[in-house]
Amino acid sequence: MEPRRIVALIVAAGSGTRLGGSLPKQFAKLAGKPMIAHSFAAFSAHSLISETIVAIGAGQQAMLADAVGDARSVTGGATRRESVRAGLEAIAADGGADLVLIHDAARPFLSAAVIDRLIAALDSDPGAIPVLPVADTLARGIEVLGETVPRDGLRRVQTPQAFHFDAILDAHRRWPEAEDATDDAQMLRRFGSNVAMVEGDIMLDKVTYPADIAAAEARQAALLVSRSATGFDVHRLEAGEELWLGGVLIPHDKGLSGHSDADVALHAITDALLGCTGEGDIGTHFPPSDPQWKGAASYKFLQHAASIIAAKGGVIDFIDLTLICEAPKIGPHRQAMRAKIAELLALGEDQVSIKATTTERLGFTGRGEGIAAQACATVRLPVRGRA
Ligand code: CTP
Ligand code: MG
Repeated sequence: MEPRRIVALIVAAGSGTRLGGSLPKQFAKLAGKPMIAHSFAAFSAHSLISETIVAIGAGQQAMLADAVGDARSVTGGATRRESVRAGLEAIAADGGADLVLIHDAARPFLSAAVIDRLIAALDSDPGAIPVLPVADTLARGIEVLGETVPRDGLRRVQTPQAFHFDAILDAHRRWPEAEDATDDAQMLRRFGSNVAMVEGDIMLDKVTYPADIAAAEARQAALLVSRSATGFDVHRLEAGEELWLGGVLIPHDKGLSGHSDADVALHAITDALLGCTGEGDIGTHFPPSDPQWKGAASYKFLQHAASIIAAKGGVIDFIDLTLICEAPKIGPHRQAMRAKIAELLALGEDQVSIKATTTERLGFTGRGEGIAAQACATVRLPVRGRA
């Protein structure tokens, strides 16, 4: 069977009026990174998702790139429904998809388990949504309290909402322009299709009002424990090689040799990140015998390690790196490396520290035979698997 093409569409073209603040809420920092970066990372790390595309406001490309790195985007519309439509049409113009998961950037904490449940439900229905029971008593009334609404038959509906791509595209195209819809499932149902319900997740609650920020941060913090781990690496300096350090090409009369580009700094950081997972090291995860890693640029190892942490629902808090060499002098390149490593890991520069030392001309680093790097990574990871 051909692998299915499953596309994630994140809508992030709203203005976040109810939340307020200087930036639209999807770009405001939440739990250490821009809100949109959380769900973007969850989709990107999921093995069944082929591509993630984002609907953003006009002129927000640079903000999106700062938040998530390279991402395909489309310009959204004046309402959520129009932003979804723009995204679906872009996917259609690009050859379509088998399944699509439509998600609000304003629901940052998306787990792989919810994605799995939704995709599985699409085996039997053209649509699937995450829902939760309503726990509070519900009553009508703005100024005067009116009747109580029985809550037994009510469900809170979240996103992502997952669909057979052609079915939801058709519903969007047939939907009357004058009418609004607050989610996509109601649109599919209008035209007679069944939408399955799967178990939602309180972590997915939407950030709408200022108080929701603190609640979201607290819910996430309660799930995470801090872990630190170190990484160490050495590569030989040889004439005729390029010198890649910290993802930056540095002019020098010698370069580092080894499998891949031998970027000793990125290798040490990669090992530190993998160390935080307790699941082996760079050799375990990127065996030289696996053709996909042969000759790979080291930033791919680093980003893969970061994606392993993201897939576990973790966040990277801090990277500290020490380079040990007599030459080249690191000082002039420190800022470029810091910026590059921050960019590769979607961190702020204040979350990356780079230091350097010599070994007083002692040992192999002192003799200029090689460069050593040691790194310490601090991450926060879920205490236990999330439902
Ligand atoms: N959204 C969108 N395009 C719009 C309006 C909303 O892509 N024209 C997105 C938002 O960015 C958000 C999701 O739809 O990820 C849910 O909308 P909501 O929580 O209402 O966000 P905002 O519209 O940004 O907030 P507000 O209504 O308070 O202005
Ligand atoms: Mg809105």
